[in-house]
Amino acid sequence: MDIVEEEIREFLKRNGIECLAKSEELWEKAKERLGEKAVEGIGPEEFISKRYFLVNQNLKFYDIFECRYDRYELNVSLLKDLVGFMDSPECEFLVSVIDSGCGTGNHICFLAKKYGDRKHEFWGYDRENGMITIANEKKERMDLNNVKFYVSGHDEPMFYEKEFADLLYNMGALYLRREMKPEDIAERIRNIFLRVKPGGTGILGPIESPHFYKNISDILEDYGIGYEGARKVQEMNEPWYVRGGLYNHYFRIGEDGR
Ligand SMILES: C[S@@+](CC[C@H](N)C(=O)[O-])C[C@H]1O[C@@H](n2cnc3c(N)ncnc32)[C@H](O)[C@@H]1O
Repeated sequence: MDIVEEEIREFLKRNGIECLAKSEELWEKAKERLGEKAVEGIGPEEFISKRYFLVNQNLKFYDIFECRYDRYELNVSLLKDLVGFMDSPECEFLVSVIDSGCGTGNHICFLAKKYGDRKHEFWGYDRENGMITIANEKKERMDLNNVKFYVSGHDEPMFYEKEFADLLYNMGALYLRREMKPEDIAERIRNIFLRVKPGGTGILGPIESPHFYKNISDILEDYGIGYEGARKVQEMNEPWYVRGGLYNHYFRIGEDGR
């Protein structure tokens, strides 16, 4: 395990996110936190395989969901990829970072702590008030003064004073529906990237194979949003995920792309 990975695992642990490999352990934890009644009538396997955790229905479910083995490992790999990018030469002059659909702020708080000496500004927004409440508690607990959280939806562009960031990433918060056409998906991505400065970077993850963006990237090109490529963040073999792994997809927002 390298130093960054150790740092990430330690951070997650301090925030109550520990790897629970066995579904029985997770189920026990769910019972303990939510009470027997909430998980009545379902066994541990069912609890896991049906993805019983509906993020916006119960925030405590979300917390437990984070501990599931694949989700935990995914958090570690997502953070490793973001750190890799932040440490690359192209981020030398980076000033501001937005976590779009930040949930409870795990990723942005980690980055704000790690890059606290760089004078960057970090923002996180989420449409769920409850998520932002937990994110703010985390921020206080970690004594961070370089991160701000806002309640906002993707389609509400002006959510803080300096609305443009050098880097925006969206991890698992695109909320695409099966019936959405490539044009609709491109439109949603464009709306999210309106918060990025021309010349800045947008990252969407963790999403299945690079093919996902083949027909969408052409539409985005017309908006001046260039697809730069994908980096694999995790192998996924569980039946409800597309086999072949999950990727972070990198985009460059063109000078006239907004
Ligand atoms: C699966 S969680 C991921 C949270 C975080 N990015 C992470 O990786 O831990 C998805 C989040 O997206 C938020 N979300 C969904 N649709 C949104 C929208 N239209 N605007 C802003 N946030 C949204 C949800 O409230 C939820 O907190």
